[in-house]
Amino acid sequence: MSIKVDIKNAMITGEEMSNIYTQIKLADEMLKNKSGAGNDFLGWLDYPDNYDKEEFDRLLDVVGNIQNDCEALVVIGIGGSYLGSKAIIDALNPFFVNELDGNQRKAPKIYFAGQNISGKYLKALYERVKGQNFMVNVISKSGTTTEPAIAFRVFKNLLEEKYGKEESKKRIFVTTDKARGALKSLADEEGYASFVIPDDVGGRYSVHTSVGLLPIGAAGFDIKAFMQGAKDQMDEINGDDSLDNPCYRYVAARNVLYRKAKDTEIMVNYEPEMTMLAEWWKQLFGESEGKEGKGIFPVSVNNSTDLHSLGQIVQEGKRNIFETVITVNNHEEDMIIPSDDNDLDGLNYIAGKGMNYVNTQAYMGTLLAHVDGNVPNIVLELEKLDAYNLGRLVYFFERACGISGYVLGVNPFNQPGVEAYKKNMFALLGKKGFEDLAKQLKGKM
Ligand code: PA5
Repeated sequence: MSIKVDIKNAMITGEEMSNIYTQIKLADEMLKNKSGAGNDFLGWLDYPDNYDKEEFDRLLDVVGNIQNDCEALVVIGIGGSYLGSKAIIDALNPFFVNELDGNQRKAPKIYFAGQNISGKYLKALYERVKGQNFMVNVISKSGTTTEPAIAFRVFKNLLEEKYGKEESKKRIFVTTDKARGALKSLADEEGYASFVIPDDVGGRYSVHTSVGLLPIGAAGFDIKAFMQGAKDQMDEINGDDSLDNPCYRYVAARNVLYRKAKDTEIMVNYEPEMTMLAEWWKQLFGESEGKEGKGIFPVSVNNSTDLHSLGQIVQEGKRNIFETVITVNNHEEDMIIPSDDNDLDGLNYIAGKGMNYVNTQAYMGTLLAHVDGNVPNIVLELEKLDAYNLGRLVYFFERACGISGYVLGVNPFNQPGVEAYKKNMFALLGKKGFEDLAKQLKGKM
């Protein structure tokens, strides 16, 4: 089923929506006819139709082997080479999945590495994994990103110590550029199985490529359904260029609000398994829109947890915010609230009800309170949290982000600002070629 976008609490008039509509339509046309900035990074746009079917079949085989042959898969990557698969796996997995024993789990445990530079984290993961039968999927388009490169060095060494060089080669899967980069050279030299990140797909738009598919498939989820969801979402968006198109409506609403000085968008969820989905969404929009002094700042809250920490500032703080709430219709699991003879905690008025019911009332009560507090709310309704609907959701946001970037007047497919910290870090670490910058920085410190 389609993703629904409800803007009746977004504090936007029909006239404001009509006024921005032409720009939305034009921006989407720029994407489709590849006439806008960054048009060499539009491979994701038709990817649900045009993906490499042979590579996909090879990937299905590899995923099957990983599931049969190991207890744990260490997925190494950062940013766009990490957030998407982590988001989907977290959204689909049962809670506490790594605590289940082998018979209760249908897939290997998935661990993530290379998404930070914490020695404490990597050491703990190293200790946890070393006694297990494990494999590694290292993902980096450039092949030179510091965080995953460090993690890969550590786990490659561990594999080689544990299994020897030849056996290790069968346990390493590389996802990288088809021709360039240090990782590609290493994969070719060592004969690791490798999968391609297409040249024209940037990291944060790559969840439907092998970047996301290998870990998601290895974790036991239906990647064919995930691709089908993306295709149906793409066809749906392509089939309606009016404001009835939910993707257009979302883009229109957030840009109308931005022009009314609502420059911070809070992604709200009421289910803890959606936390990482919001993290992926933050990267997608933040890295795509935040440039040239422009951009809606993307933040997220996990309710009702964060109502007890950030609820105050949302209700009464600076009025530069709006919320986009993701609701999920179909909950399979629930916990019934027990009755208590003494009712000392006063909860008997909801005894016998499911917690999902209570959560829904919390969501509706919060939305109404925030709207009263002058915080516009857009609501995105998802039918179900499954591979198919998540495939839809990821494509929905990618398309919305591309359109929105053009409406803002920026190139949504580059990230020049990310380089500044890297140069400073390399200089401070003493990397060759950064000597002058190191001197300048030391002078400032
Ligand atoms: O969206 C992006 O392009 C970035 O977030 C990259 O994915 C991230 O920096 C990791 O880069 P790489 O895959 O080259 O290691």
